[in-house]
Amino acid sequence: MDRKREPVRALELFCGIGGFAEAACEKADVVAAVDQSEIALSVYRLNRPSTPVKGFNLETVSPAVLADFNADMWWLSPPCQPYTVRGKCRDLEDSRASSLRRILSILPQVRPFSLGLENVEGFAASEARNLLVSVLKSCGYRIREISLCPTRFGVPNRRPRYYLFASLGELGEMDEAKISEYSMRDFLDGRPSPELALPPGIVERFGRGLPTLDPDDRNAYAACFASSYGKALMHSGSYLVHNGGLRRFSPDEILRFHGFPAAFKWPPKLGLRKRWHLAGNSLSVFVLRRALSILPHFK
Ligand SMILES: C[S@@+](CC[C@H](N)C(=O)[O-])C[C@H]1O[C@@H](n2cnc3c(N)ncnc32)[C@H](O)[C@@H]1O
Repeated sequence: MDRKREPVRALELFCGIGGFAEAACEKADVVAAVDQSEIALSVYRLNRPSTPVKGFNLETVSPAVLADFNADMWWLSPPCQPYTVRGKCRDLEDSRASSLRRILSILPQVRPFSLGLENVEGFAASEARNLLVSVLKSCGYRIREISLCPTRFGVPNRRPRYYLFASLGELGEMDEAKISEYSMRDFLDGRPSPELALPPGIVERFGRGLPTLDPDDRNAYAACFASSYGKALMHSGSYLVHNGGLRRFSPDEILRFHGFPAAFKWPPKLGLRKRWHLAGNSLSVFVLRRALSILPHFK
């Protein structure tokens, strides 16, 4: 395979709504995007109609299926629950880690030129990470591990994440450019939907324990939005002071924090809870676009 051809042929595994595709689209041609969630794929398809999307379970994928994509690069955003307190930190014992195990068992047979992976910070100290690094080393990859948060680039949203980049070629330096000077207001909807308001009874009962932000506080930054935002009240993201009460951030506001383009669309019939779930599960396009410059094809 000619490793120098442009654009890089990338395979997006655990694609969700396509955070990797948004970050990589200027340099990469996504040859296929794989996820087992039909709902996530419906959003992906709507926004990237020319990318082939494949709905299957990666726990049982065969080496031939992955090899046939003939990709120079594999991108992986595997499930993070095995490495979180909420998911009981069961690591490789958790059945949700089986798909990553399966891909790692196939990797030595296919050996894409480069690979990238993103996960929660807990992944850094996991057995899964140790397995990933040992498989990559045994296949001759150069490896870079880095913890990155959008705040490092000037985005007022915390989302610290573990990133790993590996290549059979030389790794480079990360693009450290700040996004620009943003304030909280730049990320907010002009006319927020009334659906976002927290009921007054909830505010009265729990308001003091919730992480709340004043949109005009120039030093404010939002907490990490989890996929449970809109479902769980606590530990899932921040709330805004609004009209004398509190409101949730909208899924579009969360996508804006991630760096998705204004043209990104949701299927009209997809409810608010599902949008929150998918946006909370996605990744920081701002961060990944910069971090990808570590890989040879993305400089
Ligand atoms: C952390 S999310 C990745 C989100 C993605 N990076 C984005 O930008 O939206 C993990 C994704 O993996 C998918 N997934 C989990 N287990 C899977 C499996 N066994 N096979 C295929 N997809 C799986 C989930 O449906 C979810 O979309």
